[in-house]
Amino acid sequence: MTADLLKREITELLEVATLTAEESLQKICELLRDRRKGYDWVGFYFVDRQKERELVLGPFAGQPTEHVRIGFGRGICGQAAETLKVFVVDDVSAESNYLSCSPGVRSEFVAPVMAGGLLVGELDLDSCEPALFTREDSRLLEWVASVCAGAVAEAAGFEI
Ligand code: SME
Repeated sequence: MTADLLKREITELLEVATLTAEESLQKICELLRDRRKGYDWVGFYFVDRQKERELVLGPFAGQPTEHVRIGFGRGICGQAAETLKVFVVDDVSAESNYLSCSPGVRSEFVAPVMAGGLLVGELDLDSCEPALFTREDSRLLEWVASVCAGAVAEAAGFEI
């Protein structure tokens, strides 16, 4: 599915009044995984408001992961949380600070989700294809991270 069509569907999903924020995010993960080739695992991590500097797994589509909690600084997700930068990793096997979700994964994309100037969560994608995430994917996924900010903040329990 093209980026433009996906954007329209995601915008609509975020506006469905009968869905909770978490349910909308779940459907967005499933939509991205089902409609884009190579998006093998798509999920949101939330910043845990009870624990300092820790991410907790939120809605996701794909194989369950053992990395339900990730401290800031650990793995690609933890580095994105610490630096507030987008990470596009073409070859995860070349990374020393990487947490393997499943052995088939070759490339990864992580974008911080910011709301009201605060980090509230992250959007994380894994692919079994090496270097799957192009500049066009990054543009789409950074857009997803930004439009989902309100829903992530709400689902993670932030009052913004
Ligand atoms: N690979 C991530 C861990 C999360 S799983 O991919 C779902 C990392 O290195 O932070």
